[in-house]
Amino acid sequence: MNDILVTLHSYNRYLILAALVFVLYRAYTGWLGRKPFEKADNTGSAALLGLAHLQLVIGLIQYAFTSTWTQTAFANFGAAMKDPMLRYFAVEHILAMVIAVTLIQLGRTFSKKATDDTEKHRKLAIYTSIALVIIVGTLAQKGLLFGSLRQ
Ligand code: HEM
Repeated sequence: MNDILVTLHSYNRYLILAALVFVLYRAYTGWLGRKPFEKADNTGSAALLGLAHLQLVIGLIQYAFTSTWTQTAFANFGAAMKDPMLRYFAVEHILAMVIAVTLIQLGRTFSKKATDDTEKHRKLAIYTSIALVIIVGTLAQKGLLFGSLRQ
């Protein structure tokens, strides 16, 4: 079970990274070039949010039930805080990623509420950029941007 979830969570990261690049490219060129907010902009942002929510659900199941990292950490939380990898998965990864998914959600919500097309692009660009920095920074910190902890 854990293997399946880790595989899904691991591959979904690449879909999320690709969706982030797609949404940000369209948001910045749309904002700075004052282009209309098109169907592809909305579809890209909806796809990114869907993938982020899927990652959140898989991550929460791993975190609460299946991950050997978190189960080991929960067995002795005090000791886990002194181990960089256990602390990463028990505290840092979940905290940073929940913030990032919230920012992706806020970017889409505020973009949808905006009445002006440039403003729609701008909201998506700003919130999604911060989410990208958090996701890339948190993963790169442990070599997980393009890597895996599995052998
Ligand atoms: C955009 C959001 C996220 C991304 C891009 C992401 C990415 C990753 C990556 C790349 C790994 C390593 C997978 C591997 O070793 O092959 C991982 C592991 C993990 N993630 Fe996430 N994650 C995200 C959100 C979350 C959230 C919200 C949670 C918890 C609620 C979570 C919980 C975990 C856990 C527990 C593991 C360790 C799994 C294990 O090896 O036992 N992740 N994540």
